[in-house]
Amino acid sequence: MRIDILTLFPGMFEGFINESIIKRAIAQKSVIINIVDFRKYSKLSNNQVDDTPYGGGGGMVLRIEPLYDAIMDIKKDAPDAKVILMTPDGISYKQSVATSLKEEKHIIIVCGHYEGFDERIRSLCDMEISIGDYVLTGGELPAMVISDSIIRLLPGVITQTSLDSESFNDKLLDYPTYTKPQEFMGMKVPDVLLSGDHAKIKAWREEMRIKRTEERRPDLLK
Ligand code: ADE
Repeated sequence: MRIDILTLFPGMFEGFINESIIKRAIAQKSVIINIVDFRKYSKLSNNQVDDTPYGGGGGMVLRIEPLYDAIMDIKKDAPDAKVILMTPDGISYKQSVATSLKEEKHIIIVCGHYEGFDERIRSLCDMEISIGDYVLTGGELPAMVISDSIIRLLPGVITQTSLDSESFNDKLLDYPTYTKPQEFMGMKVPDVLLSGDHAKIKAWREEMRIKRTEERRPDLLK
């Protein structure tokens, strides 16, 4: 899979692509991540990419032309790439959206910034995604959130057993896990996990998933 991320703040992605599982996924060629500073597509003086809003009001608004040119430049070699805009008024992001996006060969993620963007930018995009009902300073963190959640689902990035048992796969949260020591400050590892009885352990884990979901996220069971 290839992910192009269009941003005015490429430095924000340095840690994301150079650490841990994402770094490894890039090294083993499970994913290509291309960070594009779309300011370089500006044709205005000082590489300006924003302007004041028509009709007045405060703040600066991102102009459409540099994004249009950046997207067209990528699409000339990849006409089927799916363009995704990060915005608080997009559809709510969920594991099921990650699962469907992992099937795409190529996505282009557009990070908005400043007070807002020219409404016509939406016409360049196939999909708009919000990562939650709160407003961030820009689309960079949301772009990392969705890229991370997609990349970990790509073949060979993390083990299949980790993916099989995790939260949200079947609308249930994950079961509790423990490691050594067996007892810490009076808190003990449940006996069943020490029993060596795999059928019993499996049943206990399923039971815990349901209990935990009922307690913490009853909305998922509806
Ligand atoms: N840009 C600013 N806030 C956002 C959010 N919650 N989701 C996606 N993009 C955003």
